[in-house]
Amino acid sequence: MYEQIKLPYDEGALAPVINKETVETHYGKHHATYTTNLNAAIEKAGIDPAKPIEDVLADLDSISDPATRTAVLNNGGGFYNHNVYFEQLKAPSEGNAPTGKIKDAIDAEFGSFDAFKEKMSALAVSQFGSGWAWLSADKDGKLYLSQSANQENPITKKTGHKPLLTIDVWEHAYYLDYKNLRAKYVDEIWKLIDWDVVNKRYA
Ligand SMILES: [Fe+2]
Repeated sequence: MYEQIKLPYDEGALAPVINKETVETHYGKHHATYTTNLNAAIEKAGIDPAKPIEDVLADLDSISDPATRTAVLNNGGGFYNHNVYFEQLKAPSEGNAPTGKIKDAIDAEFGSFDAFKEKMSALAVSQFGSGWAWLSADKDGKLYLSQSANQENPITKKTGHKPLLTIDVWEHAYYLDYKNLRAKYVDEIWKLIDWDVVNKRYA
């Protein structure tokens, strides 16, 4: 049985960057529904619900029925991606920036945090329609950026990659707070990133 992460903060803690109503809907409704539907799809697919979700997503081709495979992709991605997203947030702080090993790795790969932030923000803003922007480490620990549509992610049908940080750019993530201004939401979300969590993932 797959379970949503428990939020490591109050639903109102991300305000004013992301207001309580958005968290209530996004985490309490959307993420909860992905989780419920994932558990139903996993049962239908005959997959052991103790199997790590990363392994399920990497191994989608083993699900023979196309409709069930799509249900596991959509709801498994929705479940996993939102766990990554919500777990990495914290109350806003001005000048929030990476620390520790992930800071060094970002500087080495992208030149500076500002250069990295600009690149990842551009991927988030330019993702056409619903999707995500990602910072991940590849099999050798090298950092790279990507974007994905709908509920796909860097580990869909792949192994050895480790998502470290993500920005949800589905409209449900920002529309109550920013309406159509996705770029403004992306600009603001950097105040919420808990770099301790990102460092733990990187380690
Ligand atoms: Fe979302």
